[in-house]
Amino acid sequence: MERTLVLLKPDCVQRRLMGRVIARIEEKGLNVVAMKMLRISADLAKRHYAEHVAKPFYPALESFITASPVVAMVVEGLEAVRVVRDMLGATNGRNAAPGTIRGDFSSSRQLNLVHASDGADAAAREIELYFAPSELHDCPLTIGPWLTVVGE
Ligand code: CMP
Repeated sequence: MERTLVLLKPDCVQRRLMGRVIARIEEKGLNVVAMKMLRISADLAKRHYAEHVAKPFYPALESFITASPVVAMVVEGLEAVRVVRDMLGATNGRNAAPGTIRGDFSSSRQLNLVHASDGADAAAREIELYFAPSELHDCPLTIGPWLTVVGE
């Protein structure tokens, strides 16, 4: 089992797409094991996007991500990091394949609706930025064996 950090960005919340994105995650057979709504501060934005802080697009990214509340979630499942990234599609909504979340709902590179960790190390770091260990829940589902087979 893997855990990944998913952020429903300000454009996702403002466009009232939260429910549709969460539904797609759940329909895929992934578990939401933590969730909160928050306003990202400039300081948190810099820590979250540390690898982008020096890039020319960072000031615009920071003002976008701090402009309005987001929903942070920890999503759990087999290969959850890759599976969720695949569900999002390419960073730029205009390049994202139809059927992906960005491909279906975004036409922008910056306003791309959802963030998800890009690897296991990033997931561990990002989950710690948004959640205390006590906010992560073990919620095994009795339907679990009908959704996937561990080890397949
Ligand atoms: P995300 O997956 O959250 O990771 C970094 C974010 O920066 C990305 O989604 C986009 O919202 C944004 N981003 C990435 N590249 C660019 C770019 N070249 N110009 C503007 N924004 C970008």
